[in-house]
Amino acid sequence: MEGIDQTNLPRHVAIIMDGNGRWASKNALRRVVGHKRGAQAVRSAVRTCRELGIQYLTLFAFSVENWNRPADEVEALMALLEDYLSAEVEDLKEKGIRLATIGDIDALSCGVRHRLAETMRETEQGRSMVLTLALSYGSRDEIVETVRSIIDAVTAGTLCSEDITKETFSNHLYTKNMPDPDLLIRTSGEYRLSNFLLWQSAYAELYFTPVLWPDFTRENLLDAIRDYQCRERRFGLTSDQLTEK
Ligand code: FPP
Repeated sequence: MEGIDQTNLPRHVAIIMDGNGRWASKNALRRVVGHKRGAQAVRSAVRTCRELGIQYLTLFAFSVENWNRPADEVEALMALLEDYLSAEVEDLKEKGIRLATIGDIDALSCGVRHRLAETMRETEQGRSMVLTLALSYGSRDEIVETVRSIIDAVTAGTLCSEDITKETFSNHLYTKNMPDPDLLIRTSGEYRLSNFLLWQSAYAELYFTPVLWPDFTRENLLDAIRDYQCRERRFGLTSDQLTEK
């Protein structure tokens, strides 16, 4: 595919999809319309990642902080999510894409939880890519939950405090079954992580683009991957050490 080195793909791409509201006001439309267009951009990103052979795609679809938005906007986002899942489930199944979630799923409405559970069940055989939606997600909440569950394990006597390592910690996060992101993309020209995958992104390559999420095309995604492929990932080593390896 167009200038992409298939031997050096990020295994896990994570995206902060930002700028739906600004896209809407730029086009003199309601914010909800921006989110609707954002959902179309989600379809395109999922398709492109699957085509490329990316194994994990994680999308920041709704943060814990987003609950504080006007009620009609929250409702519209939840409705869009349900519509997306109903409309895409057959395609996800056909393409071997397994749906997963991270976040405080219990905070979502019964209807949304039901739709998510159904879609996860229907796609559970998918082996080509894992699409994870971060919903009611906040990284600091996730870290606090992790600490709690480790303390529970120590109290129950199934874990010794001396045996707690970085790996133990990773294995108690919502993301326990997936590798850390290699490439983290944020759209809309903001240079922040906004409480997304803080622990997991310790060594992620960060890619920021001014493009607003509804305008983010397949070509923009390929640009981000080409950019990633020009980076030297040193993980704290020197360049010389890397070439010696
Ligand atoms: C940020 O734009 C985006 C969100 C808060 C939600 C992301 C949701 C979607 C892309 C659509 C639905 C999702 C799925 C998975 C179908 P913003 O509203 O913060 O934009 P602004 O910063 O310009 O106001």
